[in-house]
Amino acid sequence: MGGPRTSIFLRQKKFQFVLVAAVVVFLIVLFPNLYDSEDYEKEYPLLLENEQLVICYESNVDSRKALYAATTLSDVTDEPSTTQRNHRQQAPQQQPQQVNGTEPVIYFVTPTYPRREQIAEIIRLGQTLMHVPRLHWIVADDTNSCSEVLNSHIRKFGIPYTQLASPMPTMYRGRKNAPRGVANRRAALNWIRQNQKKTGVLYFGDDDNTFDLKLFSEIRYTKKVSMFPVGLIGDYGISSPIVRNGRVEGFFDSWPAKRKWPVDMAGFAVSLEYLALSPNATMPFKAGYEEDEFLKSIGLKLEDIEPKARNCTEILVWHTQTKSSKSPTVRISMDRQKLDKLNLGALLRRLESMGVNHISESEGTTAQAIVNGSVKPFSFWFS
Ligand code: UGA
Ligand code: MN
Repeated sequence: MGGPRTSIFLRQKKFQFVLVAAVVVFLIVLFPNLYDSEDYEKEYPLLLENEQLVICYESNVDSRKALYAATTLSDVTDEPSTTQRNHRQQAPQQQPQQVNGTEPVIYFVTPTYPRREQIAEIIRLGQTLMHVPRLHWIVADDTNSCSEVLNSHIRKFGIPYTQLASPMPTMYRGRKNAPRGVANRRAALNWIRQNQKKTGVLYFGDDDNTFDLKLFSEIRYTKKVSMFPVGLIGDYGISSPIVRNGRVEGFFDSWPAKRKWPVDMAGFAVSLEYLALSPNATMPFKAGYEEDEFLKSIGLKLEDIEPKARNCTEILVWHTQTKSSKSPTVRISMDRQKLDKLNLGALLRRLESMGVNHISESEGTTAQAIVNGSVKPFSFWFS
């Protein structure tokens, strides 16, 4: 009895093996890129199946303290200090931007991802954007699920916004040269299309860059595509169009890499009227070539480009990068609830919810307190 059964079993095993091998060969033939990592020149799929648009939270209400409205110099009643007076004589104080609600809206697309610096970056960027009228902030988070912690920070700025969950496809995650922020920007493009936004201007503003407020008034009236220098890029410390007689004629960038449009993501803005002419325009998952391929996909021509920032002589955006480091584990070997008798309970819970650190009872750097210049164990507070 055992004999035939075993041989059927073996035959089944053999069949399974052949089947698995055939599937593997088939996959390799179909998707050779799966097995070639870290190659700048490789093409990655432009279209993804099942690309979903996950809208987490949205608000169209602008409830910012109107920093840019109403206040005029006459409202300032305090006697100006000497320095202010001198300053005013040299250059009249800039009038706040007047807004009447008809200006093109800037769709400011920010890819972001969970790491310990995320909330700090979002606070800094959000406080910049609080000064910009007629702006819709699309925050696209590289996560599968909607982050409530992220939302609690975004919404407090009072800026009209949309928070998306737009994870990087798993096939790219973990690669040394993963295409960062691409799933996020593609999701934002989908949101713009699905919501029929056909007027206004699109700008890709990463969460770690530094934006001069003047950038926004420069890009707001972009006709087709505007371009401008980005500071702190590559071996030249700058990436910029080269302008002659008010026209863009070339590019100054230390990484040509055979790119037709060797610009940084932060170095251009696109009007939505112009974008709508290319309904299939998209950004490929191709690290290093996202800008180039996106600009090719909208059919950009050199004569379509408007140089901004005083003919590309000013730097209005900086490619700052935040040093990232691992979340430390802090060892507190006592009942966490006891910490609620101090500020530390709430403080540490908040930091943990942001991913800034972890508290453990058994591992990590042992937490201590300093009292009157001497180090005490935590138990000191509860003895
Ligand atoms: C540079 C360019 O400035 C980016 O616009 C470009 O997407 C990126 O290179 C690239 O080609 O991969 P860099 O400062 O090197 O950016 O990259 P990050 O700032 O780390 O990432 C760019 C954006 O993607 C950021 O807004 C970041 O929050 C987001 N990101 C990064 C993710 O959404 N997921 C990640 O895993 C990493
Ligand atoms: Mn960056």
